[in-house]
Amino acid sequence: MKAVKIETTLEIYNTIKDLPQEIQNLMEAAVKARENAYAPYSNFKVGAAILLQNQKVVTGSNQENASYPSGLCAERTAIYYAGAQYPKAKMLKIAVTASSQNQITDTPIPPCGACRQAIAEYEIKQNHPIEIYFMGVKGKVVKSNSLANLLPLAFDHSFL
Ligand code: THU
Repeated sequence: MKAVKIETTLEIYNTIKDLPQEIQNLMEAAVKARENAYAPYSNFKVGAAILLQNQKVVTGSNQENASYPSGLCAERTAIYYAGAQYPKAKMLKIAVTASSQNQITDTPIPPCGACRQAIAEYEIKQNHPIEIYFMGVKGKVVKSNSLANLLPLAFDHSFL
């Protein structure tokens, strides 16, 4: 038997103001997108904004459904839109923000496992890391330099 230790490195910022203006703008786009969330069942609104290499910003929000599993997270709404509209443009950075109607969300809300898998697909496809920034409504921001940091042992095309 051999034990394998997997380590990851994330950067934690006390406030979005500690990040460059470009990231503040991207997070602002995510906040605006969050307002368009359709979340009548969870009351948990999420916004995502993706900066593409062509400098366009693509946004998405969670879209829920009375048939719960038919809904989609903000990150995948945004990333599939980016993939569909700009298939040749690399995705450089993603900002994500979440807010709950039940409490003030002041801790960073990480992307769910399914969204990590979806983001991993594009990171591998474009062979270029995607920076991820996530936060609540206010407070700390977590930065990951690459999706790979958030999804060790990812399932990818090489297994097919
Ligand atoms: N949600 C997202 O949009 N992104 C995530 O990464 C986690 C969860 C949404 C899905 C659902 O509409 C609501 O948040 C509660 O799970």
